[in-house]
Amino acid sequence: MLNLSKLATAVALVVAGTAALAGEVEVLHWWTSGGEAKSVGELKKIMQSKGHTWKDFAVAGGGGDNAMTVLKSRVVSGNPPAAAQIKGPGIQEWAAEGVLANLDSVAAAEKWDSLLPKVVADVMKYKGNYVAAPVNVHRVNWMWANEAVLKKAGVKAVPKTWPEFFAAADKVKKIGLIPVAHGGQNWQDFTTFEDVVLGVGGAKFYSDALVKLDQKALTSDTMKKSLETFRKIKSYTDPASPGRDWNLATAMVIQEKAAFQFMGDWAKGEFTAAGKVPGKDYICAAAPGTDKAYTFNVDSFAMFKLKDPTAQKAQADLAAAIMGTEFQEIFNLNKGSIPVRLGMDMAKFDDCAKASAKDFVDTAKINGLLPSIAHGMAVRPAAEGAIKDAVSQFWNDDKISVADGVKNIAKAAATK
Ligand code: BGC
Repeated sequence: MLNLSKLATAVALVVAGTAALAGEVEVLHWWTSGGEAKSVGELKKIMQSKGHTWKDFAVAGGGGDNAMTVLKSRVVSGNPPAAAQIKGPGIQEWAAEGVLANLDSVAAAEKWDSLLPKVVADVMKYKGNYVAAPVNVHRVNWMWANEAVLKKAGVKAVPKTWPEFFAAADKVKKIGLIPVAHGGQNWQDFTTFEDVVLGVGGAKFYSDALVKLDQKALTSDTMKKSLETFRKIKSYTDPASPGRDWNLATAMVIQEKAAFQFMGDWAKGEFTAAGKVPGKDYICAAAPGTDKAYTFNVDSFAMFKLKDPTAQKAQADLAAAIMGTEFQEIFNLNKGSIPVRLGMDMAKFDDCAKASAKDFVDTAKINGLLPSIAHGMAVRPAAEGAIKDAVSQFWNDDKISVADGVKNIAKAAATK
């Protein structure tokens, strides 16, 4: 027979349990383009399905410079969000301030150590403790191209070297279209710049110059050649590029106004959101001269210390969800990246993602797996910012000679 009083107690316990577990997570990110917003929306849905409240803290601005400025003021005023999109050495800097939460119990329960490549896990840890949860792996050294534009221009094969690239760009110019869709913001200039350094100098040179910041490499003839090539690319961009957002540049390729864009595979999120298919509507290829290398950019959420136990619970659930298979698949299908969690089924992913997953493994074997400096993976934020400024000054001012450009970049790299 149904015992009503027992049932009432059970119901009360369930309700109390749910209420005690539900909390709010405030999440700072800069995912505001079409593809990005769709992707982060999936995380929001997962958190809401667990009964938590999602407080969106989106700060527009590709590459995240604006978001980092806003984050600093929030943390300084003692009111950090639960989680913030922070990457690479930046995670270590925040952890050293003593403001990040320890995620070890979630990480142990969810077995993160065995589910992450060690290079990634190390970045998520400070003094051996997890303080951040990784989301994905973006490849940065991609070149996106519109098939129809290449056909119209008579470009028969996707350029694999810089000379081939310039020959193709000339053909596009001749038919009155824009060869390179570029957004003139310093992180976008730098995204192109690091492709050029990698393509011109190879993986070892990239690592010496842009990761180790070795002065000899930074002032070498190879760096001069890189700057010459970089400047030449600018002559194939349109006059309206200064200040343009990256997704608007991607839209120019999607809409057949431009042939190429140099951008990480978040650009694929825009093609996907527009219903475009790789191999049919557009091409993804390694930037010229870089097919044996892979510049990686791992998005991750660092978690801040919180006082409220319900908020702490919501934060722990967020960390677990981020590394869960459901999120890793649906988010990355929309975002253009690949799952960071090892052993994921790639069946639903497109050919560009499959190529990215294969190249991630293959390039690691030949020392070609390299952190992207443009995307906060390689050097401390202060040096990164200074180098970015020097590179953009060179890009924007044709009066700066190559020799001076090299000097300025080398000097910026020495910023402490
Ligand atoms: C982030 C990507 C983001 C892109 C453009 C990169 O630094 O890692 O997730 O889509 O910036 O905003």
